[in-house]
Amino acid sequence: MLKVDDRFPIEEQAERAVDRRRFLGLAGCAALLAVAGNLAAERGESSPPLEVAPIDATMLTVGEGRAVAAADGREALLVRLSADEVVAFDRRCPHLGCPVLWSPERGRFECPCHHAAFEARSGRVLFGPPRSGLTPAEIKVA
Ligand code: FES
Repeated sequence: MLKVDDRFPIEEQAERAVDRRRFLGLAGCAALLAVAGNLAAERGESSPPLEVAPIDATMLTVGEGRAVAAADGREALLVRLSADEVVAFDRRCPHLGCPVLWSPERGRFECPCHHAAFEARSGRVLFGPPRSGLTPAEIKVA
């Protein structure tokens, strides 16, 4: 137990210098990570269009969604909205890249990471942190 007259083992001035140095180092690292994350997110928005192999629209029932792998390894999320309408979007959330899910109950795309939602037909943001909507994927329906 510390007593009032015990000497503190580290000079107060030295401890402040170490704390300030650590703080500035961590703040610098955090700033670099934030810039890198923002650049990566922006780079994702400008990546080449996602092309999915021709699909048979009858493989989906109306209201059903399915993730499909593209040739380059990315994933598209396909949803059959009606008998003659299929939409497809890059599955990566434009915020930080989490995989977006289809919610048939609510009829919209949702990102579980930060609770964002996107309109089914256009992919535009309904609410949440993303500043842009889902990126459309190019599909050919057979
Ligand atoms: S990653 Fe989708 S809302 Fe943040």
